[in-house]
Amino acid sequence: MLKKLKLILLLSALIFAFIVTGCSDSEKNNQKEKTVEIVPLTKHWEKAIPNQVIPKGLKSLSAEECGGCHKDIYLEWRRANHSKAWEDLQFQAEWKKDKKLWVCINCHTPLQNQQEFIILGKENGDYFKPVKRPNPNFDYNLQKEAITCAVCHVRDGVIIGPYGNSGTSPHPVKKDNDFLSSKLCMSCHNVLDEVNPTLVCTFGTGEEWKESPYPLAGQNCISCHMPSVYRRLTSYTRARWTRQHTFIGSAVPKTMGRDTIVKDYVRGLDIKVRFSPSHISLGDSAFITVSLFNQRAGHYIPTGDPEHFIVLQIRLMNKDNRILKDTSFTVAQKWKWWPEAVKLSDNRLKAMEIRDYYLAFKVSEQPERLFYEVIVTMNRMTTKIAEYANLLGSYPIKAVIYKQRFKLITGD
Ligand code: HEC
Ligand code: HEC
Ligand code: HEC
Ligand code: HEC
Ligand code: HEC
Repeated sequence: MLKKLKLILLLSALIFAFIVTGCSDSEKNNQKEKTVEIVPLTKHWEKAIPNQVIPKGLKSLSAEECGGCHKDIYLEWRRANHSKAWEDLQFQAEWKKDKKLWVCINCHTPLQNQQEFIILGKENGDYFKPVKRPNPNFDYNLQKEAITCAVCHVRDGVIIGPYGNSGTSPHPVKKDNDFLSSKLCMSCHNVLDEVNPTLVCTFGTGEEWKESPYPLAGQNCISCHMPSVYRRLTSYTRARWTRQHTFIGSAVPKTMGRDTIVKDYVRGLDIKVRFSPSHISLGDSAFITVSLFNQRAGHYIPTGDPEHFIVLQIRLMNKDNRILKDTSFTVAQKWKWWPEAVKLSDNRLKAMEIRDYYLAFKVSEQPERLFYEVIVTMNRMTTKIAEYANLLGSYPIKAVIYKQRFKLITGD
């Protein structure tokens, strides 16, 4: 016993000596490198939302806890991309490619409680050299919930809500309609800033909304993306006006499965197809016109991630399904990322903008034998990018949002 203890003591003394020398060595090194400057965090997206405490009357900050009483809202949130912003295959793939850059998680798992480390600053302003220390309040399960209830509802031990009705709830509540407004959405959906010359944040949905006619009409992120529902918030309280929490946006689903388009998706585009002239014969020139009208989105279509794009395809074919003429158009922003990020062009459809696209052709067969087809797809990324991120075949990259076939002469 004693021998063993001695050995342990000897070993620990050795280890201690090693640590001490190691430590003083690195101190010497630090003295040599006097040039290291710790640049503090100043921008809101550089910082996590500070560690939050569990409000009185509740057992945890987790969405599951809230769902114990607010069951409907919990199930809606589970369907929303907000709850998937961490486990999302594309996020995990891109985040790894970006060397697990800490700023990413300030929007994807924004509470400090959801982050393993507390970031104190950047060495010489370099985003890839954060000065960090372990976070004693890190909660692994809460991290998985990504943009969880507490991100939008818990501050300083109080639940922030739209009514401020503390009479019936088991937890303290505070009414703050200014906090629960489009400003909250824009803290993540409206950040146009630079991390370094090749890495920029380009979410401009808020700016696009501000320049649209919608703010004047009193329509904002919440009125469109959180439609009103009259229902009970818990099994034991009375029905009242509440908001849906599914946050339906793009048509492209997040996981492979039965659904090729997001359930309850509201298409922002109104699509009209015309054929002219109304009377044609063999040899005439003719046009198919497709109007894309951004009638329902309070911002550009597509918005958000700069990789999103729309493809419109117009094709003329005969009765034997032989394609006689085919054309396609892309609606997107185009960027050059290297040697520095520069936006080259942007032809996305602004709110309320209408644009016509044409296919012109000569009637080369009996008009009764001719058909045309119009297909519009919403794309999350190109096949090339999906391949590069190792997502091809395991992650949905597009959805067909419109597909119609018409007879040339009757138009139906
Ligand atoms: C034990 C049941 C229970 C749990 C758990 C619970 N709530 Fe509540 N909550 C209520 C009740 C009851 C009300 C009042 C409903 C009403 O008045 O219609 C309420 C009201 C609210 C309101 C509206 C506040 C207002 O008056 O403006 C919000 C927001 C809210 N809860 C969010 C949460 C969140 C987020 C969680 C989890 C962190 C949570 N709740 C956990 C029972 C619960
Ligand atoms: C903490 C940051 C954050 C806040 C606050 C936030 N969002 Fe999001 N939102 C995200 C992220 C990140 C995603 C994408 C998640 C993914 O695709 O994995 C997203 C996705 C969405 C989508 C779905 C987009 C799609 O691809 O279909 C909609 C719609 C949306 N948010 C609307 C809102 C609205 C409205 C608000 C305000 C009430 C809001 N968001 C607040 C970060 C945020
Ligand atoms: C007038 C209603 C309206 C308003 C206001 C509005 N949206 Fe949308 N939003 C839509 C519609 C409709 C779509 C679906 C567009 C489509 O067909 O792809 C959409 C799509 C989105 C998407 C998914 C885009 C993509 O390509 O992945 C996000 C994210 C989003 N909205 C966020 C916001 C935010 C944030 C605000 C406030 C700044 C906002 N929206 C304001 C109606 C609206
Ligand atoms: C992205 C932000 C966001 C997330 C995440 C979120 N909420 Fe909300 N929630 C809101 C906003 C904004 C409102 C207020 C809408 C309004 O103006 O009436 C709201 C309202 C509520 C209300 C009051 C009733 C109502 O519907 O207006 C309850 C209760 C509530 N949320 C519970 C939850 C629960 C539970 C979760 C998680 C399962 C959750 N919320 C997740 C933004 C969010
Ligand atoms: C300022 C907040 C913010 C930061 C920082 C941020 N994101 Fe996001 N991210 C968002 C929002 C908002 C969306 C949803 C955009 C939309 O669909 O319109 C999103 C969506 C995504 C998506 C899904 C795109 C899609 O097509 O559905 C991926 C992947 C992603 N982010 C990766 C990252 C990575 C990697 C980083 C760090 C380099 C990062 N994000 C940093 C806010 C942010």
